[in-house]
Amino acid sequence: MTSTVKHVLIGAVGALLLLLLVGLAVILSGGYDVAATERHTSLGAWALDTNFRNSIQGHAEDVTAPELTPAMVSAGAPEYKAMCAHCHGGVGESRAEWAEGMRPKPPALAAAAREWSAAEIFWLVKHGAKMTGMPAFGPTHEDRKIWHIAAFVKAMPEMTRDQYAGYRAEHGEDAHSHAGDGGASAPEH
Ligand code: HEC
Repeated sequence: MTSTVKHVLIGAVGALLLLLLVGLAVILSGGYDVAATERHTSLGAWALDTNFRNSIQGHAEDVTAPELTPAMVSAGAPEYKAMCAHCHGGVGESRAEWAEGMRPKPPALAAAAREWSAAEIFWLVKHGAKMTGMPAFGPTHEDRKIWHIAAFVKAMPEMTRDQYAGYRAEHGEDAHSHAGDGGASAPEH
C-alpha cells in the first residue's frame, strides 16, 4: 500500500468517526427538535418519506391481493368509518380536529389512495408504521377484515360524497350478508 493510499484511508476513517460523534452528540443533547409544531428539515422529511414509501413497497411485493369485490367494499365501510376516518377523513369529510396537530399529518385517503396498490394498503394497515402515528391493525384484525378495509380505501377515490355517506358506519343487522362469511363473527369493537 502506498503512503498516499494510507493517508486517504486514515482521512476517510477519521471523517467517518467525526460524523458518528456529531450524530451521537445530536442524539444525546436532544438536538433534533421533536415538537410536532415544527416542520422537519427538508432532508429529514425527504429521508422519512422516501424510507416510508420504499419500505412499504418492498414488503408488499410478497403480498398477493385477492380480487376486490363490491361486497368487500361494503364490509370494509364500517371498519373504515370507525377506525380510520378520524385520522384520514372521508369523501367530503375532513379528519378530526385533533388529527390536524399530527406530524406527519395523516393524508386524505380519498385522494392519496390512488398512489397505493391494494397490496401496499393491506401491508401498511396490517403492520402500521413506526414513528408516524399510523397504527398496526394486524394484532387485532384478521387478514380477511384488513382486505375489506383495503378494498374500501381503494374504492374511495371513485366514490361520491353521497355514496360514501350511504355506506354503513356501524356493524349493523345485515353484517352477515355479502362478503362471503365476512362480518358474521361477533362485533370486535
Ligand atoms: C391515529 C391516526 C391514524 C389512524 C387511526 C390511521 N392512520 Fe393511516 N396514517 C396515519 C399517518 C400519520 C400516516 C402518514 C405516515 C407517513 O406519511 O409517514 C398514515 C398513512 C396511511 C396510508 C398511506 C397514505 C400516504 O399517502 O402516505 C394509508 C393507506 C393509511 N394510513 C391507511 C389507514 C387505514 C385504512 C386506517 C384504518 C384501518 C388508518 N390508516 C388509520 C395515521 C393514522
